[in-house]
Amino acid sequence: MQTASVHGMWSSRLMFIMAATGSAVGLGNIWRFPYITSDNGGGAFVLVYLACILLVGLPILFSEIIIGRRGRMSPINSLRELARDSGASRAWMGLGWMGVIAGFLILSFYSVVAGWTLHYAWLYFKQLFLGAEAIADPGATFGALLANPGELIFWHGVFMVMTVSVVALGVEKGLERAVSILMPMLFVLLLVLLGYAMTTGHFGEAVGFLFKPDWSSVNGGMIVTAMGQAFFTLSLGMCAIMAYGAYLPSDVNIPRVGVAVAATDTSVALIAGLAIFPIAISFGIDPEGGGAGFIFTSLPLAFNEMTWGIAYGMAFFLLLSVAAWTSSISLLEPPTAYFVESSNLSRRTIALIIAALTWAMGLASVFSLNIWSEVTIGGKDIMSAIEYVAADIMLPVGGLLIAIFAGWVLSNRITRTELDENMPSWAYSTWLWITRVFTPLMILVVIGGILGVF
Ligand code: PHE
Repeated sequence: MQTASVHGMWSSRLMFIMAATGSAVGLGNIWRFPYITSDNGGGAFVLVYLACILLVGLPILFSEIIIGRRGRMSPINSLRELARDSGASRAWMGLGWMGVIAGFLILSFYSVVAGWTLHYAWLYFKQLFLGAEAIADPGATFGALLANPGELIFWHGVFMVMTVSVVALGVEKGLERAVSILMPMLFVLLLVLLGYAMTTGHFGEAVGFLFKPDWSSVNGGMIVTAMGQAFFTLSLGMCAIMAYGAYLPSDVNIPRVGVAVAATDTSVALIAGLAIFPIAISFGIDPEGGGAGFIFTSLPLAFNEMTWGIAYGMAFFLLLSVAAWTSSISLLEPPTAYFVESSNLSRRTIALIIAALTWAMGLASVFSLNIWSEVTIGGKDIMSAIEYVAADIMLPVGGLLIAIFAGWVLSNRITRTELDENMPSWAYSTWLWITRVFTPLMILVVIGGILGVF
């Protein structure tokens, strides 16, 4: 058994928690969770999402860390080696490749949305220091941004350069430093926003919308989206957490760090929801059907009203960009680590090539917002179609295979040692059977349902 990875190691348990939380917490929590909750009718969606985090997300989160730490290599090579040692087929490395493709597709649109947040940070900076006018009509401001391919491509490019520069530096120098300072700051800012939301007089209404289930809104499509969001928000199903698990010191207790990461990620999403919905309602914005621009068209209204609102708006969008940054790093790390192991090129060159390809792919999402807005795939514009296929379909399918690999391919001796040798038998058996049977079945039923197999 290898005890260290060639790519470096996290310097402590806390560093892994920070990095994995940095990967998990991002646009998924603050941009995607509010907007798809809004589009899916609130309460019932949130409860299905929470159930998916617990019953599907957590067991797979453990599985990814186990596989990563046991393999100590990039996901593709870890899966290949572990499959070989277990007498299973080399074809399991295909799971790693599928993760690379899912990550490539996700990063392609993710960096476009991260570009929006950078643009907004810049808008507030201009207001604060250069005397630019306030965002009087946020809907119009957002619309103008989407209509401008040049602007979108510029910010999308800036974000990609940020991502590649961290990945190029490697684990200790790049990833750790970026996450440890900025994540806690975003959390504090969200709490301030929550405090403001509580003063709007619409907090109770928002709580009702978010948590009072209207079961009539439950349908197959909504359940697929809720499960997809559970995967997306925890960075699961594409081997990002597996890649980070490879740098986790051997003596760290996996269930404990796994629960810490999932709990933090879920709290951030819920706090974001509790902050954003009261604000939207108080400015007369319908909490339902907000669409992908939801936070960009609602929050600026509050920033206009708040004391120090403009400085606050700048800090908010800047830190949201940072949260997106610590997530995008983990989307780029698995393929980069693989090619570092399997080619003679330097980490820098590899990261740069993959980022350039992803940036080019992102142009499809950029143009789908303006010059190609008429083009649809299965009734969705190009960007939404990529988001749907990668997040809602590919991640759960990846998660299904990861659960099968951890539950059935790896021996019980291995998974038990990695999880926690001193774990009571009942706790281990519970994890094992949930991972072996329950989680795969849930995913099969949901994905099978949407693909029309059932
Ligand atoms: N979890 C990230 C977010 O919520 C997105 C992500 C998905 C990152 C998959 C890595 C892998 O923003």
